[in-house]
Amino acid sequence: MTAETAKLTLHTNEVVELPVYKPTLGQDVLDIRHLGKQGAFTYDPGFVSTAACESKITFIDGGKGILLYRGYPIEQLAEKSSFEEVAYLLLNGELPDKDEYQAFVSKLNNHTMVHQQLMTFFNGFRRDAHPMAIMIGVVGALSAFYHDSLDIDDPDHREISATRLISKVPTIAAMCYRYSQGHPFVYPQNDMSLAENFLNMMYSMPSEESRPDPVLVKAMDRIFILHADHEQNASTSTVRLAGSSGANPFACIAAGIACLWGPAHGGANEAALNMLREIGDVKNIPEYIARAKDKDDPFRLMGFGHRVYKNFDPRAKVMRESAHEVLDLLGKHDDPIFKVALELEKIALEDPYFIEKKLYPNVDFYSGVILDAIGIPTNMFTVIFALARTVGWVAQWSEMIAEPSRRIGRPRQLYTGSAQRDYVDFDDR
Ligand code: CMC
Repeated sequence: MTAETAKLTLHTNEVVELPVYKPTLGQDVLDIRHLGKQGAFTYDPGFVSTAACESKITFIDGGKGILLYRGYPIEQLAEKSSFEEVAYLLLNGELPDKDEYQAFVSKLNNHTMVHQQLMTFFNGFRRDAHPMAIMIGVVGALSAFYHDSLDIDDPDHREISATRLISKVPTIAAMCYRYSQGHPFVYPQNDMSLAENFLNMMYSMPSEESRPDPVLVKAMDRIFILHADHEQNASTSTVRLAGSSGANPFACIAAGIACLWGPAHGGANEAALNMLREIGDVKNIPEYIARAKDKDDPFRLMGFGHRVYKNFDPRAKVMRESAHEVLDLLGKHDDPIFKVALELEKIALEDPYFIEKKLYPNVDFYSGVILDAIGIPTNMFTVIFALARTVGWVAQWSEMIAEPSRRIGRPRQLYTGSAQRDYVDFDDR
C-alpha cells in the first residue's frame, strides 16, 4: 500500500520519514504510528485529520457528496435494495445471491424475539422515560443473557452476537414505544421484512388484524438503508474504542447508542423536528436564520451542516424525495412542518453565511419530516437511527475484532496543566 514517504522535521533538525498510504479512494494517509517513540505526538481534537483505523466497509467523499457501502452508491442501494440485503452487504462485503439472501433473512428471523425475562426490565423505567435511555440500558443488558457466546475471539460467537443484535434491537426499539403508551408488546412476525415488522410491532393491536401500508414500509426501509453505516462517525468510533478493550458486543453497541443520542449526532433528527415546530410558520424563518448566524446565540439550525459533507449530503437528497412521496401518499403536502422545512432549506441555501460555511441540509433534516408524517413520535426518531446504525456498528466492530493487529485504543494528549509541584499542607495554603 505504501511507496512514498513524507518528511517531517522535528526538534529543528531531525528528519523523520513517514510512510504515505494510498487508499483505494480518498486522500493520502500518513502513518504516524512510530512518531511517539521519536519524541512527538500529533494534536487533532475532534479527529478532523486522523484516520483511526483501516476499513473496507464505507467510503465518503464529503466534497463530492459521495457515500458508498462496500463500493455501491447509496442512491442505487436506496432505490433497488432492501435493508436486509444492505445488512448482508455491510457485514460480508458482497451482495448476496438468492440462496445466501434467503439463508440470511431466515437467520435474522430466528433471532427477533427477546428473552421473556428481558421484558420485565421495562417495568423498572418510568413510562415517560426517553426511549434512548431505555435502549442504552436494555441493549447493554443483552450481555447478561448470552454468556454462551461472548468470546470475541471466536468467529462463531461474533456471528451469533451480530445476528442477535441486528434482529433484537428493532424488537426492543418497538417495545420502548409500546411501553410508553401502556400498550401490550407485539411479537415479531417471521413473514414480514424487518421494516414491516418494526412498523407492525409499533402500531398493531392484538384485538384486530392489520398490516402496515406498503408505501410506509418502503419509506421506513429506505430510512434504515440510508442510516445503516457512515464510516468512522462519533458513535461508530465509540463502538470501536469500547470494543478495542475486548468488551462484549452488546456493551459496545450500548456505548454507541449513548453516543448517538447527542444532538450534534443522531439526536439531531429529533432536534430538527422540534426546531421546525418551534418555527411554526414560514413568516418566522428570518428570525431563526438570524439567530443561527449570531455568534452570541448558541442556536444552530438543526439538520444543517456536517463534519464531512461540504457540498451536499447524498442521503438528504434521497430523503427529500422520500419525504415528498410519503406526504403525497398521506395527503399531507400542505403539512405546515413540511412547508417550513422546504422554505427554510431554500432561504438557508441562498444565504451567504450558509454558502460560505458550506452548510447544507443533512440526512436528519428530512428524516424527521417523514417520520413525523408516518406518525412516529419525536422521541423515537433517534431510536430508529440507532436501530438502522446497529448494522453498521456491528459490521465495523466485527471488522476491527477480526484484525490480527488489533490494539486497545489509547489516544494521547497535549497537556497544558500545572508542571510538577509539591503538596502543600492545609495550614500553609
Ligand atoms: N447552524 C448554524 N451554524 C452552523 C451550523 C448550523 N447547523 N453548523 C455549523 N455552523 C457553523 C459553526 O458555527 C462554525 O462557524 P465558525 O467557523 O464561524 O465558528 C462553522 O459553521 C463550522 O462548524 P463546526 O461546528 O466547526 O463544524 P463541525 O464539523 O465541528 O460540526 C456538526 C458539524 C454537524 C456537529 C454541526 O454542523 C452541527 O452542529 N449541526 C447541527 C446538528 C446536526 O444537524 N447534526 C447532524 C449531523 S448529520 C447526522 C449524523 O451523522 O449524526
